[in-house]
Amino acid sequence: RTAAQGHAHAKAILFGEHAVVYGAPALAVPLHGLGAQADLRLTPGRETRIESQLFAGTVQAAPQPMSPVVTGLRAALEATGDADAEVQLRIRSSIPHSRGLGSSAAVATAVARAAADLRDVVFDDDTLHTIVTKAESVAHGRPSGIDARAVAAQLPIRFRDGRATAINVGRRLIFVVADSGHHGSTAEAVAGVHALRAAQPTTVRAAISRLAELTEHAVDDVRSGDLAALGSRMSDAHRVLASIAVSTPALDALVEAALASGAYGAKLTGGGLGGCILALADSDEQAEHLALALRIAGAPRTWTTEISTT
Ligand code: MEV
Repeated sequence: RTAAQGHAHAKAILFGEHAVVYGAPALAVPLHGLGAQADLRLTPGRETRIESQLFAGTVQAAPQPMSPVVTGLRAALEATGDADAEVQLRIRSSIPHSRGLGSSAAVATAVARAAADLRDVVFDDDTLHTIVTKAESVAHGRPSGIDARAVAAQLPIRFRDGRATAINVGRRLIFVVADSGHHGSTAEAVAGVHALRAAQPTTVRAAISRLAELTEHAVDDVRSGDLAALGSRMSDAHRVLASIAVSTPALDALVEAALASGAYGAKLTGGGLGGCILALADSDEQAEHLALALRIAGAPRTWTTEISTT
């Protein structure tokens, strides 16, 4: 084979962001409507090149923001036993980056799947996870690995210490994701929580335990389909995340707008300090209403996604 493709979708963290970095459990959902696609072609005798929205050129000339892609590509080719293969990699993605939606993990997963496909193999979940976590470590120093698992999973996952378990959904979940319009740097947010934990260990430890507790109850709510309980826990989690300084006035305003428009609950999702919020709707009509209210409240973009087991 001389050409191959790989794909992965976006993700949203429903519960446990930041706490998961310290070993707490977290709950993530797939966002099937947003995705990354990698096309890989063998180009023997030519320098390896990358073409993407951010950059087009040789791997040697790739700027720093491309490092996770370069690292992911190298790790994937190495895992296929052909570390020195010369290739052309084309990446297309509808996932906005630096918005907490797993863009870098999805791109790395798409690249790894394409590299495997080029050799007519399929990486098992753990090999894929190792490759993508290497790419993610370049993006920020302390990745829990949840993004790598979530962008490769078909169902919501409960994640802890590198392991993911699929969760069946008792009732269809409809989420509206709203972009604050501001870049969120996961690296900065994770470093901020780390510094706060050193300065105020008791406060941060209490926040992490509370987030862990909310996650465990939320897993039960997803299974049983108790949307009212799930939503109210989302809003609680937002307040806890705000208490460890990863929210912003723009994220708080979007959460307030979602609640004022009748969402079951709303919270920031992912690293925070910018990025997106996630609101839980009770019907398709209400999701439309929520999306409109969120755009009026300042979100430049919204996406609606539904999750069901079947
Ligand atoms: C990023 O999607 C979630 C964080 O918990 C960081 C991580 O788990 O690597 C903020």
